[in-house]
Amino acid sequence: MKASRLKIVSFFIAAFIVTLLLTSCESTGKMEGAEKEIARKVDSVLSLMTLEEKVGQLMQYSGFGEFTGPVSDDHNYMEVLKNGMVGSMLNVNGAEYTRKLQQVAVEETRLGIPLIFGYDIIHGYRTIFPVPLAETASWDMELIETSARVAAAEAAAAGQHWTFAPMVDIARDPRWGRVMEGAGEDPFLGSLVAASRVKGFQGNDLADHSTIVACAKHFAAYGAAMAGKDYNTVDISNRTLHEIYLPPFKAALDAGVETFMSSFNEINGVPATANRYILTDLLKKEWNFKGFIVSDWSSIRELIPHGVATNEYEAGYLAMNAGVDMDMMGLIYDPQLFQLMDDGKVSQSQLDDAVRRILRVKFKLGLFDDPYRYCNEEREKEVIMNEEHLEIARDVARKSIVLLKNENNLLPLDPDKIKTIALVGPMADNQFDMIGEWSARGNPAEAISLLEGLKNSLEGKAQIVHAKGCQITGEDKSGFSEAIRAARAADVVVAAVGESKFMSGEALCRSDIGLPGVQKEFIMELQKTGKPIIVVLMNGRPLAIPWVKENVPAILETWFLGTQAGPAIADVLLGKYNPSGKLPVTFPVSVGQVPIFYSYKNTGRPPIPGIRWNSKYLDIPVEPLFPFGYGLSYTTFEYSEITLSDTILLPGGELTAEVTVKNTGVRDGEEIIQLYIRDLVGSVTRPVLELKGFRKESIPAGESVTVLFTITEEDLKFYDINMEFTAEPGDFEVFIGPNSVELKKAKFTFME
Ligand code: GLC
Repeated sequence: MKASRLKIVSFFIAAFIVTLLLTSCESTGKMEGAEKEIARKVDSVLSLMTLEEKVGQLMQYSGFGEFTGPVSDDHNYMEVLKNGMVGSMLNVNGAEYTRKLQQVAVEETRLGIPLIFGYDIIHGYRTIFPVPLAETASWDMELIETSARVAAAEAAAAGQHWTFAPMVDIARDPRWGRVMEGAGEDPFLGSLVAASRVKGFQGNDLADHSTIVACAKHFAAYGAAMAGKDYNTVDISNRTLHEIYLPPFKAALDAGVETFMSSFNEINGVPATANRYILTDLLKKEWNFKGFIVSDWSSIRELIPHGVATNEYEAGYLAMNAGVDMDMMGLIYDPQLFQLMDDGKVSQSQLDDAVRRILRVKFKLGLFDDPYRYCNEEREKEVIMNEEHLEIARDVARKSIVLLKNENNLLPLDPDKIKTIALVGPMADNQFDMIGEWSARGNPAEAISLLEGLKNSLEGKAQIVHAKGCQITGEDKSGFSEAIRAARAADVVVAAVGESKFMSGEALCRSDIGLPGVQKEFIMELQKTGKPIIVVLMNGRPLAIPWVKENVPAILETWFLGTQAGPAIADVLLGKYNPSGKLPVTFPVSVGQVPIFYSYKNTGRPPIPGIRWNSKYLDIPVEPLFPFGYGLSYTTFEYSEITLSDTILLPGGELTAEVTVKNTGVRDGEEIIQLYIRDLVGSVTRPVLELKGFRKESIPAGESVTVLFTITEEDLKFYDINMEFTAEPGDFEVFIGPNSVELKKAKFTFME
């Protein structure tokens, strides 16, 4: 290129870069400017507030009749509301009801500070999406963000400003009921899901009337409760806290989450709600969190039974000094803060900081400009459960389904060849359980059951004979014979079995994670008919079902898929959608293996079959029933060996790992290609595998895709012997494959 032309081109490039820099500075500047403007407005309101009004802003009360926790008092909230002593309400629903209460706050109190309404919009508001653990099985971050965006749009149309979601607790014990509410066992996947959900809920503008404030919960390490018992003691190393349980919270923060919720559990002796290290030193100072922290329901008051506070006064002191800004239904801050401030135990600046943080979010929501912007009955009618949302919910549900087994390609069913389907089991004609726990304003009557969904999809091409056979729980086998008769008369049996929605969720833990009741015996009797059986699982947690895996030719994990469960499962059963989900959590052979997860440590005596002196059981295998990342397709995929761009990685450098994946079947399909690494030697022991990347690729039948992963020093970092987050030189193995077991391997060295 001639010098003169080069000059002109370089001028334009420079001009373009300057413009880019100015715009980005401008946008950063705009953001800083907006924050400054909000801070100015907050201070102006704060300067007008009395001590009572300030304390009132820190109080959150539940709406009547929909309590999501123990209620210690029948406090007359309307009275405190009229006195301007309420900052927030939760469990208040509908544009009309929220408007009514907002009018009291805005038009009948001295300063008219608007309320912020919060609610548990965990997987949908009225259009219910798959439970979060199910959605995570899609490994599709765009899909998960869309799901949260729809939930926010419906909730905001019904007067909600704030959701107590995403729940980002890593869970490695399937006895724990709340495993259904999170993103499974892995911090890398859990962090991506946390960020996607925050972006979906909050969008780019909280003042937009289709977005709501999100809340990263339960801070922190709630999922590490001993024995999988809810609210139980958490005793973990500082390294495990930082390496496993904190990353999804940091990801939520980096995605802009505006609130956190402190958890019920203690962490190594200090309850999270009184834990100054995690709430203030880490979250507010080190991570520079500008939003506010709400306690979980009555968790401030529960510092008393925890045994760290003698009374309500001490409980209030501990929580305030730890950094909890808002008291959810603890009824502690009001009145205890008054005495605490008189006694100099809580300072004016501490109180003002908490009030500022809460007012800042209310300003960002636009509530001071228009406190009724979210209470629009017209919009509520047009947005909620509209066709677009229902279609999105069906798509999310389909993509959350995991095909666990498909012997001899029994699935998908071909209605042209199958004349009669026996649809049996307690989950077949079941709407109630489809929407799962934490289903907000979801109406089970609006959920489409598998029976209805299959009938609609078959359009009469094949006959369905339905027989329930048994209940979810209990010992009654009297329905077996009818179902067996139906099976004998059919070409194929679809057995819909699983848990009730009330078997997973808060305070819903199980010591036995097999199929409840007589469902296993039911399937055993069906199997004696010799008819091909497809088991469709509907559950909120990993199930230990070794007999089913061994003896049933086809198994679909469908979790609790929400309002569109029936159509989505029918789409997969009939091959209208080729299942692509992968497990975000390990399924154990037996509860005796728990806790069991893919990124375990090797130990000094890794298991060696047939040899005694090593780490294994006498009576069950050490391998899981189904591993993390596992999921089949109606087609097959073949992985090439890994090609590395280099076998040496230098600090600040990068290397690429490339594979070609071929669809060797006759159906188009999607494959979630996973990348793991192993640090062979470290200053502390390192897991045998860590997920560091994945790609979801659509691959037409007979075609291939080549996928390139880039590995940098960042991917190798961990908390070393001195708790420094760093990468250490040495040999690494890199793995790529369809799950955390079937893996191609290559090696590289990270050099100092
Ligand atoms: C519950 C849950 C929490 C929920 C809150 C409000 O106890 O632990 O996840 O957001 O109370 O319902």
